Amino acid sequence: MRLRIEPFLYAIAASAAAVLLGQWLGHDPLQRALYMVRFTARVGVPLVLLIYTASSLHRLWPGIWTTWLSRNRRSLGLSFALTHTVHLVAVFNYIAQPGSPPQPAAGIVGYVFIYLMAFSSNPGSMKQMGQWWHRLHTAGVQIVFLYYLAGYASMLAEPELRSLGLTVVPLLLAALGVRIAAWRARRVAGGVA
Ligand code: HEM
Repeated sequence: MRLRIEPFLYAIAASAAAVLLGQWLGHDPLQRALYMVRFTARVGVPLVLLIYTASSLHRLWPGIWTTWLSRNRRSLGLSFALTHTVHLVAVFNYIAQPGSPPQPAAGIVGYVFIYLMAFSSNPGSMKQMGQWWHRLHTAGVQIVFLYYLAGYASMLAEPELRSLGLTVVPLLLAALGVRIAAWRARRVAGGVA
């Protein structure tokens, strides 16, 4: 289960660009901090979409790319944990800014799952945890997906961010559709109509 460098190169380059862009576009320290928080989560969207659909795409359309995706979910997952660690640092920076609004603690649950999945993404933990490894990673991927869906769906009510919500929400729902289609195909293949 050798790691692939490409997702990590994306994670490092995109997170660096997110921080620099936030610094550049913000007009004052608080806005710079807010933009860095937003952009460092935003660069996670392609990774969340690929991680969430990798094995489903491979089941529905087996081929070179879907095999690569499915085989390298671990690298994709760990590179997402990397981008979201940058989001966490940006969150602390934002919270430390004078005038920043209080933050809901609900996101902590997401980070618990992100780091439990990251630290158990190795053959040893997989063997040791057995069925619990699959339960953790199945639940964890769904929870991260739901955070993203909730985050972008909430933007539909905000005029400033609506166009972003209208762009990302359909992509996330399409990913959900791919997963449901693969699940149904598996049930049919398993003879359970
Ligand atoms: C305690 C933990 C967390 C805190 C305090 C936090 C805080 C924030 C803040 C302040 C924003 C900007 C909101 C705005 O635009 O006004 C944000 C955006 C976002 N966060 Fe977090 N977050 C946390 C955890 C997470 C987790 C675990 C996830 C997903 C797994 C996540 C995904 C997102 C997404 C998708 C956005 C929107 C990015 C965009 O604007 O494109 N956050 N977060």
